[in-house]
Amino acid sequence: MEEKKALLVVSFGTSFPDTLEKNIAAIERDVSAALPDHVLRRAFTSGMILRKIARRDGVHIDDVPRALARLVAEGFTQVVLQPTHIMNGDEYDKLCGQAAPFTGLLDLRLGTPLLTEAEDYQALARALMDSLPAPGEGEALVFMGHGTGHHANAAYCQLEYVLHDLGWKDALVGTVEGYPGFAEVLRRLSERPHIRAVRLHPLMVVAGDHANNDMAGEEEDSWRAQLEGAGYAVTCTLKGLGEYPAVRSLFARHALVAHDR
Ligand code: CO
Repeated sequence: MEEKKALLVVSFGTSFPDTLEKNIAAIERDVSAALPDHVLRRAFTSGMILRKIARRDGVHIDDVPRALARLVAEGFTQVVLQPTHIMNGDEYDKLCGQAAPFTGLLDLRLGTPLLTEAEDYQALARALMDSLPAPGEGEALVFMGHGTGHHANAAYCQLEYVLHDLGWKDALVGTVEGYPGFAEVLRRLSERPHIRAVRLHPLMVVAGDHANNDMAGEEEDSWRAQLEGAGYAVTCTLKGLGEYPAVRSLFARHALVAHDR
């Protein structure tokens, strides 16, 4: 009898249908293409988003325990679980805890988040550099990550350091809720007196609430408004990382590594 194999792609989730399609579904398709003999399944980790989609659209999406229990019940024996998380933070810890009880029931192969090994930082930095125009004369790129109280937050500084090492000295990484915050971004810009213009990009898999409001919003406390107030010409790109094929291929590579481990 042939082994039944599945690929479970796990995302935080989004309640915006177009963002879901352009980012999460696009990642799922590319990861699935790397493992064509695996049946593709989806799970979201955010209970709030799952409840919102169920209430609004009547659409049921599994969380991780339900997705894995369903695969066991359907007779799947090998499951590659690939998260679309950027870092090894709280969401990934939760995912590992939820997957743990299934390791005895399935040959479960767990993929790592986008930024895990040292080489992942090189790979993401190169993917960003291949996907975006280099900062022009007098121009800085600022990436807005989420940020967290989890020790994984150090990933943002490491990514900025690698971008500098690879030649993008005027690329900065800041976060909404962690370190470095906007104050540090603003100070680092002021330490570069040649900078007159800032291009803002979300460093998040989906460009959702934080990108639309905290980064690019009309309110006076958005990064865009504060940078404009400080005299910079600002452009915002509202694209999640999932919209860049070069980034999607990194998730596919992580799934393949997990599969072959
Ligand atoms: Co948030």
